[in-house]
Amino acid sequence: MRAAAYYLISFFMLIIYISQVSHQISASNIHCLIISLLIIFGLGLFARHYLIEFVVNKAEYSVQVLRQFITELAVFVVMAIVFMIYASPFLSFSCEMKLAPAFIIMGLFTAVEFSLKRERQLIRYCVRTKKHIDIHGKYLPVPIKLMIISIICIASVTFVMTTVVSKDIKWLITLQKSGLYLDQHIIVILKMSIVAFIFLALIINLIHSYAKNLRMLLNNQNNALKSLYSGNMSVEVPVCTNDEFGSMAYYTNKMIRKLRQYTSELKASKKVTILCLSSLAESRDNETGAHILRTKFYVLALARKLKNHPRFSAFLDDETINLLGNCSQLHDIGKVGIPDSILLKPGKLTPEEFEIMKRHTIIGRDAFLAAKKRLGSETTPFLELAQEIVYTHHEKWDGTGYPQGLKGEEIPISGRIMALADVYDALISKRVYKEAFSHEKAKEIIISERGKHFDPDIVDAFLAVEEKFKRIAHVYIDSGASDGCTLVEQVSR
Ligand SMILES: [Fe+2]
Repeated sequence: MRAAAYYLISFFMLIIYISQVSHQISASNIHCLIISLLIIFGLGLFARHYLIEFVVNKAEYSVQVLRQFITELAVFVVMAIVFMIYASPFLSFSCEMKLAPAFIIMGLFTAVEFSLKRERQLIRYCVRTKKHIDIHGKYLPVPIKLMIISIICIASVTFVMTTVVSKDIKWLITLQKSGLYLDQHIIVILKMSIVAFIFLALIINLIHSYAKNLRMLLNNQNNALKSLYSGNMSVEVPVCTNDEFGSMAYYTNKMIRKLRQYTSELKASKKVTILCLSSLAESRDNETGAHILRTKFYVLALARKLKNHPRFSAFLDDETINLLGNCSQLHDIGKVGIPDSILLKPGKLTPEEFEIMKRHTIIGRDAFLAAKKRLGSETTPFLELAQEIVYTHHEKWDGTGYPQGLKGEEIPISGRIMALADVYDALISKRVYKEAFSHEKAKEIIISERGKHFDPDIVDAFLAVEEKFKRIAHVYIDSGASDGCTLVEQVSR
């Protein structure tokens, strides 16, 4: 339909043009001209349909746009040649010569429009199928394409308007000299306006077409980068054009693949580091068993429940919750610095020993401070959060905790969540100085500590997810083994 519309506009423009430049066209033979032009445009449209099918549609995607341009233009060139031979009896020689540029101008407008349309189809195809076209080094740069379109627009308008106007001015001067001048200038202005309007519409359509393609290509690039920024590492930019945009998409995809590889390696090394460190801490404390693993899942359950709570939502986004789960495994890392005589004592600690035991929060904090100092400005959210948990997980809501005696909101959210998870697990676990409490008994103790040891809202969240706590405790039941390697194996599974 669009092709037929373009051929109809070209036909109409050529009728106006020929009637302007040919002295032999009169009222008696204009119908012959119209019929011959109609036949040629009809045949041209028919030939175009098959040429596009065989020459363009069956070509490789990377050359389809260029082939579309050449085919469209070639059809107009052939139509011009055929018309000049066929219609020469109606036309003067000078008119025949002037016909070639007129056909080529209309051919160029049609060729550019349909090449842009072809490019748009390819973009949609690549986005839909997630396929990429093969790009190669040789392509028409975008600024050159823009320049060509601008030159076509300016040159064609100048050529047609000058040709049309010059004859009419001569005609008006002749009429004026012979005294027959009436209101013929109105006819000239009307004719000029129609020609100018059609050209303006064609130019606006080309600019709109090109802008649409640019917007689609930029959106592809932009959406992929936004998606990548929000953590989607599987995203790719469709490579749909053999130009700078195609090249940009191609190298962006290469960059994303490398980033994916590096991130995967980094995640693996971080996981291994956390597991090794937590296993190290665990291996020194043979009563904890799978404590580290259970507390991680308690922390995650509480954090996910609190995610939509107005007091916690600003802090607990998905990324932080995930980080919180990983960092929680290191909460007792400072225990590596506590003497075995205290850490492994088969009984209750004396007040002096307990004071030494309390130092595990400071030892852990200092380890992270040293790591941050070495990293300098390259500190990470992981290090910050891990340090926070290690240092504050024994603080109490009423200010009676240690090591700083922080109170209420002074205690970081991470420390408050960790505190409940840690205590719950200690309550339901067997110790040399006590038997394991049931879930109901542990729950009772936690409720009694609401607003004393624990943040009241975190206790409420615990009550809301208590079934999850029971399931976690059941799945990751203490095997009695304290071997770090065993834990690593469990976690890996
Ligand atoms: Fe601790």
